[in-house]
Amino acid sequence: MTNATEIKPSSAQSARPEWTSHMGFILASLGSAVGLGNIWRFPYVMGKYGGGAFLLVYMVLMCAICIIPLLCELFMGQKYKKAVVGAYESVDKRLKSLGWLNVFTVILISGFYFAVGGWIIHYVLIYFTGAIPHGTDYAQYFNNFAARPVLPLLYAFLFLAVSAIFPYRGVNSGVEKANKIMMPAFLIMLLFLVIISQTLPGAKDGLEFIFKPDFSKFNAEMFLIAFGQALFSLSVGMGAMMTYGSYLNKDTSLVDNSYIIIFGETLIAISAGLMIFPAVFTYGLNPGEGPGLVFVTLPEVFEQLPFCGNLIAVLFFVLLLFAALTSSIAMLETSIAAFRESLNMSRQKATLAVCAIVVVLLIPCTLSFGLLKNIQVFGKTFFDLFDFTSSTVLLPVNSCLLCLIVGWLVKPSDDIVKGNKVLYFIFNILLKYIVPALLLFSILCGLNIIKL
Ligand code: TRP
Repeated sequence: MTNATEIKPSSAQSARPEWTSHMGFILASLGSAVGLGNIWRFPYVMGKYGGGAFLLVYMVLMCAICIIPLLCELFMGQKYKKAVVGAYESVDKRLKSLGWLNVFTVILISGFYFAVGGWIIHYVLIYFTGAIPHGTDYAQYFNNFAARPVLPLLYAFLFLAVSAIFPYRGVNSGVEKANKIMMPAFLIMLLFLVIISQTLPGAKDGLEFIFKPDFSKFNAEMFLIAFGQALFSLSVGMGAMMTYGSYLNKDTSLVDNSYIIIFGETLIAISAGLMIFPAVFTYGLNPGEGPGLVFVTLPEVFEQLPFCGNLIAVLFFVLLLFAALTSSIAMLETSIAAFRESLNMSRQKATLAVCAIVVVLLIPCTLSFGLLKNIQVFGKTFFDLFDFTSSTVLLPVNSCLLCLIVGWLVKPSDDIVKGNKVLYFIFNILLKYIVPALLLFSILCGLNIIKL
């Protein structure tokens, strides 16, 4: 009856979990960062925008600019020990709605991410059971499959259910354990496939495509694409890293860990290119296929591999599945932790509530390729609309506000850069002015208000 009972945290909340080891945190954060963005999107975007030149811009942006919102998220999480809504609320009560905007963004992104997750499960199964005959027209196969009314939806639900098991079980016995198993397995499979790919005759062309810089492609558009890709790939701008940061103990160095995440993330993205392009060039396929690269071009590669094509295909799609799952777990955990803390729900109830919302979003997204193909909002199908709103608009909006709030309101001490005065000065300039200005610029370009 008293207020005290309302304010008192529930027993589930009073024992806030922490990562059991530093490795657990690194693997989970890398798991969140490494996903479809690295394996499916990075290689073809890099190919399209000048190979090595793109890579150079990407790495500079990652190390000098994108590290700032990443650091801010980890910092807010570690400082306030709350998920995204609670953390913003701790800065100022009025910022609570910004926390919810972050949750909204991550739920929106789940809508299309989980649809693709469903496709991946389908491809694992058809290769595993040998259900896809040689000589298939893979483009047609993919389009027909994605356009079916029920099957892709069932797979998307299955992907959601598998992802949800881990946050349902808790941070240590669910989220951390899943990453500790899936990430090493992912890395071993990736290394194996990179090595196999280098033995193919097209390896040299593949390497050239990736690493030979085409400086004529150096322009503002390429810069923006690299920036957007880097932010998406780091999983910032939606409170995911804040949530993972909130399970860190107070002594963990944030700068060191941010660089470990950035380094690992970039290395894995490059490895994905090293795995895919030598094979694509060997069989004279189109490296600029775009989004169809993984589901259309690679099946053609698998068919032509001289031996064990099916086995390699299963390995590749399982690898992709693990990459997607470790990201989808982070997405769910972000919303679940916020629901749990801010709506006072048990972890189990919060998981069910979040899943119910994701199911509702999954339906229009998944059906965007078939039944609802002709329904467009602002000239976009639901799938594209969700992608655009979350990745191109809300992600930079949230990141920009995050930097401004941390820079002007929270004002971290120079502990954040281990007391180094010069670094602290640079950090503040980036945090308060440069990074928010760049983010604002990318938002305006994304909305077509500034035309390049
Ligand atoms: N970084 C993920 C990838 O590369 C995608 C992603 C964006 C994400 N935002 C996220 C993952 C938030 C987890 C949480 O695929």
